Amino acid sequence: MISKTYLSLFPSDLATYGRDAKALLKELQSQNERMFLVTFLVLNTGRTEQELENNVFQASSIAQKHNCNLCRLDFQQEQGLMSSLPLADCQIEIQRGLTTSSTAIFVPFTTQELFDNGKESLYYGLNALSNNLIMVDRKKLKNPNGLILGTPGSGKSFSAKREITNAFLVTDDDIIICDPEAEYTPLVERLHGQVIHIGPASTQYINPMDINSNYSEEDNPLALKADFILSLCELVVGGKEGLQPVEKTVIDRCVHVVYRKYFENPTPENMPLLEDLYNALLTQDEPEARHVAAALEIYVKGSLNIFNHHTNVDIHNRIVCFDIKQLGKQLKKLGMLIVQDAVWGRVTANRSAGKSTRYYADEFHLLLKEEQTAAYSVEIWKRFRKWGGIPTALTQNVKDLLASPEVSNIFENSDFVYMLNQANGDRQILAKQLNISPHQLSYVTHSGEGEGLLFFGNVILPFVDRFPTDLELYRIMTTKLGEISEGTQK
Ligand SMILES: Nc1ncnc2c1ncn2[C@@H]1O[C@H](COP(=O)(O)OP(=O)(O)OP(=O)(O)O)[C@@H](O)[C@H]1O
Ligand SMILES: [Mg+2]
Repeated sequence: MISKTYLSLFPSDLATYGRDAKALLKELQSQNERMFLVTFLVLNTGRTEQELENNVFQASSIAQKHNCNLCRLDFQQEQGLMSSLPLADCQIEIQRGLTTSSTAIFVPFTTQELFDNGKESLYYGLNALSNNLIMVDRKKLKNPNGLILGTPGSGKSFSAKREITNAFLVTDDDIIICDPEAEYTPLVERLHGQVIHIGPASTQYINPMDINSNYSEEDNPLALKADFILSLCELVVGGKEGLQPVEKTVIDRCVHVVYRKYFENPTPENMPLLEDLYNALLTQDEPEARHVAAALEIYVKGSLNIFNHHTNVDIHNRIVCFDIKQLGKQLKKLGMLIVQDAVWGRVTANRSAGKSTRYYADEFHLLLKEEQTAAYSVEIWKRFRKWGGIPTALTQNVKDLLASPEVSNIFENSDFVYMLNQANGDRQILAKQLNISPHQLSYVTHSGEGEGLLFFGNVILPFVDRFPTDLELYRIMTTKLGEISEGTQK
């Protein structure tokens, strides 16, 4: 018999329990939750009894802070230990009912991972949350184009070199590097690759007018080549507004004239030179043509005529580095553009052979300043994928990457972004552009060398890559002055 006084106390508690039970029932019935019976064990260890006492005390105070009571398994220590081992044998009969989502909190294996054990997957660091390896194959992305972004010294070039080494050893792909700082030479030489020095003092030449029959999949390879030559002239003519419409017209007209002879008889000697373009421009009536020709003159007859020679390097190696450090500031952009075009020639030739080409462009922002050049680079960037190219651009200046809608296309066309430490301004821009949460942003805020966020398709993972500094490989990859070993410095 329950006395009246007790009855008057019950309803409020009952109501609460009733509400809880109903909510639980609703979760089970309609929210795809299950009921689990959970035994939660905390194993404390200590080297001395005192230490053990301390640890037990610490554990229970942590639990208490979160409104839980740990109860000591007196007289069941052995069963407790056995149950806490990964033997799938629970000998402790203290259980508590929990729903799926509450249980899931205790399962520590729910981090997002990127691990592909395919034949061509490469190492990109450790997952910062779980310490598991990150191994992926960019070729499996819808769009393998990649960006490596970070402040100076954050490890951009270093991670590119690591990927290059990895790709060299694991895959059969061709690898081409455009190296404005002459820092890839030791690595490429160590891999027995080919280093092509382009500069005023060098006798190795590439002809920007080179064209091959694979150059474009459209019937007319000349159209794309004309685009390239327009960009080249834009860099040459310079000026704020870039090329004027009439100038573009005359250049395009001359390009067609210049190549006519070559297409009639496509032998290497008939390959046009910048000089032919220059001469063709001089024969035009428009004053604009003469204006462009005058600007071209120094590159044809003057002291900057390094690009007015037939190609005399035979690019035969699997791994090739174009060292353009010796080119001055203005020529460097031109050099990068010309290398990019040479790479394009290689990509198209490789496609016929069923081979992928990896292309690394350091200091990529240099190509994004001029409108026409930027547009051409974006165009190439988009085409690369279809042709089995895997380009990677390295740049410090995220702002330049997003300067115009045209250029930000590069972002949309890159499913692989290796983001290292970011400057404050860039962080805000990136957060907006790529939808990064403040928590994720913390991984690229004052982060160390080789730490950051990896975007792979629609997966975002924080990574850490601490390369062992006592390896030979480190010495040929580092750019820290004091660490570059004398044997490899050339
Ligand atoms: N993952 C790493 N593990 C160990 N050290 C690293 C790592 N990444 C970079 N470093 C160190 O940081 C140095 C600078 O890196 P790196 O040359 O790649 O910078 P960067 O971002 O290319 O800079 P810049 O914009 O000036 O070209 C390297 O020489 C190397 O010593
Ligand atoms: Mg660098």
